[in-house]
Amino acid sequence: MGKLDGRVVIVTGGARGQGEQEARLFAAEGARVVIGDVLDEQGETLAKELGSDVARYVHLDVSQEADWDAAVSAAKDAFGKIDGLVNNAGILRFNELVSTPLEEFQKIIQVNQVGCFLGIRTVAPEIAAAGGGTIVNTASYTAMTGMAYVGAYAATKHAILGLTRVAALELAAKNIRVNAVCPGAVDTPMTNPAQLDPGADPAAAGEAVAELYKKLVPLGRIGRPEEVAALALFLTGGDSAYITGQPFVIDGGWLAGVSIV
Ligand SMILES: NC(=O)c1ccc[n+]([C@@H]2O[C@H](COP(=O)([O-])OP(=O)(O)OC[C@H]3O[C@@H](n4cnc5c(N)ncnc54)[C@H](O)[C@@H]3O)[C@@H](O)[C@H]2O)c1
Repeated sequence: MGKLDGRVVIVTGGARGQGEQEARLFAAEGARVVIGDVLDEQGETLAKELGSDVARYVHLDVSQEADWDAAVSAAKDAFGKIDGLVNNAGILRFNELVSTPLEEFQKIIQVNQVGCFLGIRTVAPEIAAAGGGTIVNTASYTAMTGMAYVGAYAATKHAILGLTRVAALELAAKNIRVNAVCPGAVDTPMTNPAQLDPGADPAAAGEAVAELYKKLVPLGRIGRPEEVAALALFLTGGDSAYITGQPFVIDGGWLAGVSIV
């Protein structure tokens, strides 16, 4: 028996990285998954690999209202209902606050924060109609503390915790639980752009990343997207039945405090 037998879950940004691992793990645990992304080729390939009885890909730019409506229709056409959502899609840009163009700031808000809001607003009524379920929002450790050069991103991740808490309060009566994951550094194309550069020497890039996180993170390494997927599974499944409105840090101990060794 799977931990998500009978569930139907939309995973945004599900074509690669953490979202891909969430889609894979949820499917392995018995859920049917709707993978939404703007990377159509990668998303289609993943859905095909998982099988049409288990997965569908939909083009879903989370910043666009109309895309959300279309995704919900596609999910219901394919699987009859929706009772789970993982708001995972996100973008990161590095810039000093005083050098950040307004357009860049607004773009990050539009995808990370407005995208999360639109997901909750569009999908929560469907989850309620299905009798209840779960929403997992993807924040970040930069939702819990500051980090230089990612001001716009950190602002959106703080906002996602606000949305999570308010949604949990407003949706509890409809039997919908809403929680947030707050990953530290996780080995995906977002933090390791070398993964995307066919010209880069993967061994050298990998070694540089390993060295960096050995120093920074108490557990001595960067996180794996599968580990974040396991937390999202916990928050989507029945094992977390009495938990709502909470942020969950998954960062190898990075935020535990200042280390002098
Ligand atoms: N990797 C990390 O270290 C880390 C740490 C903390 C939080 N996060 C968060 O985890 C989530 C997943 O990131 P990841 O590390 O897997 O990065 P990633 O870049 O590998 O994956 C992000 C996915 O979101 C998709 N996406 C981007 N814009 C979109 C849009 N407008 N609509 C729909 N999909 C869109 C991308 O195409 C991609 O598939 C993000 O919200 C990110 O902010 C990542």
